[in-house]
Amino acid sequence: MCGIFGYVGKRMDGPSVVLEGLKTLEYRGYDSWGVAVVPEGNGNRKKIVIKKRAGKIGDATVDDLPKSSYVFGHTRWATHGGVSDINAHPHVDCTGTIAIIHNGIIENYEDMKKVLAKSGHRFASDTDTEVAVHLIEEYAKRIMFTKAVQRAFNEMEGLNAIIVLDTRERQLVAVRNGSPLVVGFGDGENFIASDATALLPHTKQVHFLEDNELAVVSDDNIHIYNAQTGSRIRPKKQLLTWSVTQVEKGKFPFFMLKEIHEQPGIIADIAATAGGQAEKIAARIRASFGTYMVGCGTASYACIAGSYLFAKIAKRHINSAIGSEFGYNLDFLTPKSLVIALSQSGETMDTLDAVRKARSTGAGIFALVNVLGSTLYREADAKLLIGAGPEKGVASTKAFTGMLAHLILWAYAYTGNGKEGQAILMKATRAAKEVLLPSYVTKITKLAKRLKRSRHIYAIGRGLSYPTSLEAALKIKEISYIHAEGFAAGELKHGVIALVEKGTPCIAFLPNDETYGANLAGAMELKARGGYIIGISYKPHEVFDYYMPVKDVGEATIIPNIIVAQLLAYYLTIERGFDPDMPRNLAKSVTVK
Ligand code: AGP
Repeated sequence: MCGIFGYVGKRMDGPSVVLEGLKTLEYRGYDSWGVAVVPEGNGNRKKIVIKKRAGKIGDATVDDLPKSSYVFGHTRWATHGGVSDINAHPHVDCTGTIAIIHNGIIENYEDMKKVLAKSGHRFASDTDTEVAVHLIEEYAKRIMFTKAVQRAFNEMEGLNAIIVLDTRERQLVAVRNGSPLVVGFGDGENFIASDATALLPHTKQVHFLEDNELAVVSDDNIHIYNAQTGSRIRPKKQLLTWSVTQVEKGKFPFFMLKEIHEQPGIIADIAATAGGQAEKIAARIRASFGTYMVGCGTASYACIAGSYLFAKIAKRHINSAIGSEFGYNLDFLTPKSLVIALSQSGETMDTLDAVRKARSTGAGIFALVNVLGSTLYREADAKLLIGAGPEKGVASTKAFTGMLAHLILWAYAYTGNGKEGQAILMKATRAAKEVLLPSYVTKITKLAKRLKRSRHIYAIGRGLSYPTSLEAALKIKEISYIHAEGFAAGELKHGVIALVEKGTPCIAFLPNDETYGANLAGAMELKARGGYIIGISYKPHEVFDYYMPVKDVGEATIIPNIIVAQLLAYYLTIERGFDPDMPRNLAKSVTVK
């Protein structure tokens, strides 16, 4: 879940090139960062110079590093070894002439460490990563550098990606098995990174490394090999479609707020362009014997919403499952089954793991994913890009509503009323614009000021408003750190209502549908126990202590409803003085199990 970036080329400001790359990748992990440079000139036994620190990059610079055109760097999401300067990457070998950066977990590092320590290697950090560079050092004493990296990598157990540099060679050697890596083709310079967004300022021509591919990146070429056999592989060059401005904040203080405000445009695009795709996936679902939607976190809530949308609109049962649990109950999958995997990043290991297990049953795999060239995108039998553009805020927003928009189109296409689906999404676009108006946002900031010291916030809903409540609670807890839970409103009286005390904030989603009456009863039960009721609904009601009007747009009301909750979570976080883009302990894509 770390961010890694490497550069070899003609620019002497390589350290700054790498630091800018790391800033773009920091949403992948921000416990610490580090840059390693090979100083220019004075022979081949020069020592690698490293600058690394615990914490976020912020406005740190690398001006104090020597000029260099052979550099790499890393931003860390800690797994093995606490958050400290010494455990930050890069790590070097005993000679200080070989350095490594790593994304993943080396499951057998302790055994390796014992053996290496016996032959005199000294370790500075508590990380699994440092063990690998000492192993490479050991092999490089006897075989050429690239072969040494290949051999060491093939002994590493677990899902990993590494980049290694050696002062004797002017090439970056990178290998992946599980964690993502992409190489970027420049003119007299070349790049390598964890994801393509960091390459956009430099090149749009890339090759996404497959598992067990090894890349040797030098100034004027990139060679790809099979890491097990050593045989050459022809790169599959792809052209990136995103622009640099899309990965910048623009006039917004945080990516999350920018991405929240991009949603009406994205929903309108999907309504206008994805009708044809919706017909195709509806036909796949119709032909399948059992359809399962799988995802993690926010994507898993889109799966739950998908099953409600198909039940309600298409009268078709679709199962939904959490990626990390799906693998434990696959027995009923057959080659006639269809597994639809939902993922923003396309790199979530729990979802990939579920998909790979499902594939082993012969089931068909369809992916709805936001990142071109991601592992899920490449491994699925058929795929569709969400079309939400790069999502940099760790808290997913526009990818979620983008998923919902496609699911609504699919459900209507399944009934042969694709046009009706597009029409309802256009209404949702207008309703979304209304809750993003400055006057409406003022109402939300006022509410955030009122709730900012809350210790608990609950959200309730029935039907489609149940996954809405789950997602609303996730947004609030993952960035504002206020404990929040979403409940199926009917479950209140079966226990959870015991949590409610005088003044406990309770968000009630009351759209104009078959759940209105029963949902209102739930809100009244909470009120009777002293709950402070925040009503998100198409009409006011006296039970509401705070009312947020949202236009009724049928099943698509879930979209403006969740945007209101996203804004509340964002402004609660701002009120509490936290960073909504890089919340503690999290990272944008979870590439470890
Ligand atoms: C959501 O805000 C979180 N960042 C997290 O739950 C996320 O949805 C989950 O990790 C799945 O990510 P994916 O969509 O990239 O697979």
